[in-house]
Parts: sequence; structure tokens; C-alpha cells
Amino acid sequence: MRASSLYEPLLSEIARVEEETPDTRTYFLAADAIPWRGTYRPGQFVEVSAFGVGEAPFCLSQSPTRAAFIEVTIRRTGSVTNRLDTYGAGDLVGLRGPFGNGFPVERARGKDLIFVAGGIGLPPLRSLINYVLDRRSDYGDVKVFYGARSPADRVYKNELAEWRRSPDLSVVETVDRPDEGWDGPVGVVTALLKGLKVHPASTMAFTCGPPVMLEFVTAELLRLGLHPSNIVTTLERYMKCGVGKCGHCCVGHHYICVDGPVYNLDQIQRLPEAP
Ligand SMILES: Cc1cc2nc3c(=O)[nH]c(=O)nc-3n(C[C@H](O)[C@H](O)[C@H](O)COP(=O)(O)OP(=O)(O)OC[C@H]3O[C@@H](n4cnc5c(N)ncnc54)[C@H](O)[C@@H]3O)c2cc1C
Ligand code: FES
Repeated sequence: MRASSLYEPLLSEIARVEEETPDTRTYFLAADAIPWRGTYRPGQFVEVSAFGVGEAPFCLSQSPTRAAFIEVTIRRTGSVTNRLDTYGAGDLVGLRGPFGNGFPVERARGKDLIFVAGGIGLPPLRSLINYVLDRRSDYGDVKVFYGARSPADRVYKNELAEWRRSPDLSVVETVDRPDEGWDGPVGVVTALLKGLKVHPASTMAFTCGPPVMLEFVTAELLRLGLHPSNIVTTLERYMKCGVGKCGHCCVGHHYICVDGPVYNLDQIQRLPEAP
């Protein structure tokens, strides 16, 4: 990897954009000139710049095993994301990274895996889910639970349908507010975990979503008997540099951008303040 891709944005052209929900899009960025394509870890993130506005961190939402493009899925919230929302095929963005530790894919090998995502929490987990599907024989049973506010607020609708058809994993989705076409469960994602049969000693769970969801999901996973070190999540802090220099993401002596953003519950409980 060239050191410069950590400090200087590399130019990447948007090849295409997919509208995921009314406020979220996936950007497919040309990967040919990106030296780290195919070599990053699921759970790592990049800083994407909209020139003249600024840059912001986003997780790499596709598995490194599917390296045709660098994919980021971005929800509009403020200045950078609103500018990116005006971009389309042929426009250029800057890319710095990849940053952070990523998911513990080696430790997960041989285990049954549970993924629990809420809303825009699916993108980082999607990278790991596709990584696992591309190395299917290395992992045990795979279950995905996804909750969204409404059917329209679900990201990766086509891919979710593909996953549901696949014999390699099971997918259960729920929404808070169904529409006429919705025939699946209604309610919070935590409810899907109740009564789940797991082998706690050989199961790892990966979670990402709003803090309140994570609190309830974590409690349910502990109740199922999972060890805190086998409950893994990815933390969002305010970040600027991504390389442990500016201090924006510090929690005690931890730089979330370098030491994280992926932590297991054991580690989170030892952080000096609740993240
Ligand atoms: C490691 C990491 C991975 C991320 N991955 C994704 C992703 O895959 N997709 C995605 O859509 N977003 C992701 N985010 C969040 C994303 O970085 C912010 O939404 C983005 O920085 C907003 O930039 P902006 O200039 O558009 O908004 P700003 O104008 O900077 O802020 C708009 C609003 O968003 C709030 N905000 C900004 N950044 C954060 C943050 N990190 N946490 C909580 N609130 C924030 C501000 O307080 C403000 O209210 C990630 C954040 C981190 C730290
Ligand atoms: S974002 Fe600058 S130190 Fe982490």
C-alpha cells in the first residue's frame, strides 16, 4: 500500500450511483487507480472528499473479495453528504484510506455468525456478509437480522432478495411501519432474536445500528449466552484525520480511527467512557 493514500486523497471517478432509500445512495467508485482495492478488511473505512466542501468518513460497504469498484453507501446529513448527493457518474471524489482495524475475520472462522443491523447500519456488515459468502466453507451457520423504519428505508433491497433466495444464509427482516406490500414481521429487530437457538460457545454476533438498538440487541445476545468478546460492533465517533493525529475521535487513550472502529463488548466495557 502506498503511504500517500492515507494522507493525500487519490482521485476516483464515480462509475455509477444507486438510489437505496429517499436519503441514501451507494456510490460505485472506479477502483483501477486504487492500490489497496481488494486488500482492505471488511469493517475498515475511508475518508471521501467533496472538493471545495470537505471530507467525511464512510465504511467500505462491499467485500474486498468483490473489488470491481470501491463502494460506499452514504446517507445525507450535512455539508459533505449533501454535496456528494449532487454528484453522478463521471464526477470525481477524493479517497483517503483504508483506515481502522476492521472485523476479526480470522477469529470468526469456523463459528456460527449472527448479523444484526438497523437502518444505515447494514453497509459495514454487508461487506463482512459478502466476504463470508465468498469463503463460505470457512464459516458455520449464517443468520442475518435487519430492521428498518419502513420497507422504503431498507438499503440493498435487491441484494436482500438475493440473500433470501440463497441456501448459504438465512435472512429475516422487520420494519417499524409496514406498507401494503409488506408481508414480513413488524416491530423492533430485537424481537427477531427472542427464542433463537444458538450454540453460545461457537457463535459470534456482529451488530451495527442506532445506539438504542445496539443496547437492546446486546442485552438479548448476552441473554442467549454469547460471551461479550464474541459480540462485535463498529463505533461511530466524530472523525477528521483518520490516522490518529487530530484527536477528534479520542476516548481516553484510544484513537477510535486507528484502534477501532471495530470493538467487541469486552473492549467497549473497558473503554474509559461510554462511547
Ligand atoms: C468510521 C465511520 C464510518 C461511517 N460510515 C458511514 C457510512 O457508511 N454511511 C454513512 O452515511 N455515514 C457513515 N458515517 C457517518 C458519516 O461520517 C457522517 O454522516 C458524515 O461525517 C456527515 O458529514 P457531513 O459533512 O455531511 O455532515 P455535517 O455537516 O458534518 O454534520 C451533519 C450532522 O451530522 C452529525 N454528524 C456528523 N458526523 C457524525 C458522526 N460521526 N456521528 C454522529 N453524528 C455525526 C453532526 O453533528 C450534524 O448534526 C460513518 C462515520 C464514521 C466515524
Ligand atoms: S480522527 Fe483524528 S485522531 Fe482519530
